[in-house]
Amino acid sequence: MPSRTASQSQTIATDLVLPSETNPLNNLFGGELLARMDKTASISARRHSKRIVVTASVNHVAFNRAIPLGSVVMIEAKVSRAFTSSMEVYMDVWVEDRESGECVKANEAIYTFVAVNETGHPVKVPELIPETELEKQRFDAALRRKQLSLVLAGKMKPSEATELKALFV
Ligand SMILES: CC(C)(COP(=O)(O)OP(=O)(O)OC[C@H]1O[C@@H](n2cnc3c(N)ncnc32)[C@H](O)[C@@H]1OP(=O)(O)O)[C@@H](O)C(=O)NCCC(=O)NCCS
Repeated sequence: MPSRTASQSQTIATDLVLPSETNPLNNLFGGELLARMDKTASISARRHSKRIVVTASVNHVAFNRAIPLGSVVMIEAKVSRAFTSSMEVYMDVWVEDRESGECVKANEAIYTFVAVNETGHPVKVPELIPETELEKQRFDAALRRKQLSLVLAGKMKPSEATELKALFV
């Protein structure tokens, strides 16, 4: 199975914030952003694996900056690391300034997808090759995040999380 680069999975979704998608402060509703990120990240994981993919976990989301009604929002997703059947997808969320066209980073998120066959059983995915400095940093930290996610989901004993122990010992 040939390896693939992170940039081959790059997916950029651009969309507006409409009134029905906002909270009482007229900012984008968090759940709406989560759904948009899930769709964008799933396309990225599909581009990497060429398989059906399902969301296994939402590992991290930081709503650092509110996104006002009428904003143009861009979600940029790339696979940051592929394991056996699972893929970590890292997303950066940008808001485009109407006058200058400049993009300001609003949020970040990390989701995990699993490639499955037609009966929903996990299948192997190609290895991911990181190329840029940022892709390499995200690749290196992904195993730690995978172990943390598995420990929190009750699927791995903390004593088996070798990468997490290395942080504290
Ligand atoms: C995700 C799913 C396919 C995993 O199946 P499973 O029987 O647990 O399979 P495994 O234990 O072999 O795990 C498969 C991979 O998922 C990873 N995984 C499972 N749960 C995970 C979690 N919470 N965080 C990170 N990775 C996880 C495993 O580490 C493994 O990765 P690897 O093969 O790369 O090492 C299964 O739980 C599922 O179908 N869940 C529902 C998915 C869904 O419907 N999502 C939409 C939500 S509405």
